Amino acid sequence: PKAGIVVVGSLNADLTIYCDRLPQPGETVHGNGFAVNPGGKSANQAVAASKLGGQVSLIGAVGDDPNGTMLLDSTASAGVDVSRVLRTDVATGVAVISVDSTGENSIIISAGANGTLRPAAVTPDAFKDAAVVCLCLEVGIDTVIAAAQAGHDAGATVLLNLSPYAEVPERLARLSDVLLVNAHEASFFLGTESRVPDPEAIAEAWEPVRSQFADRGLQRVLVTLGAHGSVVLDSLARGTEDQITRIAPTRVSAVDTTGAGDAFTGAVAARLAAGDSLADAASFASVAAALAATKKGTQAAYPSTADVEQLRDA
Ligand code: RIB
Ligand code: NA
Repeated sequence: PKAGIVVVGSLNADLTIYCDRLPQPGETVHGNGFAVNPGGKSANQAVAASKLGGQVSLIGAVGDDPNGTMLLDSTASAGVDVSRVLRTDVATGVAVISVDSTGENSIIISAGANGTLRPAAVTPDAFKDAAVVCLCLEVGIDTVIAAAQAGHDAGATVLLNLSPYAEVPERLARLSDVLLVNAHEASFFLGTESRVPDPEAIAEAWEPVRSQFADRGLQRVLVTLGAHGSVVLDSLARGTEDQITRIAPTRVSAVDTTGAGDAFTGAVAARLAAGDSLADAASFASVAAALAATKKGTQAAYPSTADVEQLRDA
């Protein structure tokens, strides 16, 4: 069977300042450290999946500049095939990030070269070994749709991380085999009147949400709930009880949560490509994401399969 993972999307240089607390509008605060690290949701997801044993190829664009070189180096040295990452004359994308003492962050991104990634970069031959195609919303929506269509045509599982949140055309929702959202993104997607259950709610409380997603053409949805774990809504699963699964949180003390969501997404991609069920993939990914939050930065903080198994068995 095919086992490849194709990640299509963004690469950013993350310019991060660590501080005690995030500034209010109009306020200036002192930071206590600065770092430039490789980031971007898609590059992060690709590295996470590769470190967990996935056979990953990345389609994206960087500038012909030192940040672009940093990103190609970090992804390639994690084992990602970067032969389809284009180098353009537009500067590499940048994320300006603040991280407070609890590990919470706020991020502004400037697309740069990511904005030059056109649907034409998504060629069918890139998908011939794909079991999973992993997408987020940091590149143009036409490119995301082209990638979802190419993945669908190749018979791959199309995994869409609806982040950073944007309304998506119905066509993209219908091409997505698995939707990965946090609670806010889930509410936005379903409409303002739709409230997702309290993060601690029991599995049954998610039934109305499961059926609303199914009505929108999404049969399999994974909702992450931060410190409360996640919930798998799988309308295709066998019994009624299998259709909603709560995944317990993995408790760690967070140092920097930047990119923990991308570690989760990359881990889900890796485990789905290896043949896991969605619930098993989510449970593995929750441990991977927790480990990612225990260290500064994103890609360098991502765990190996052995790291995940060690914490899971502890
Ligand atoms: O999800 C974290 C990522 O979001 C960062 O690496 C930053 O580049 C932004 O894309
Ligand atoms: Na981290």
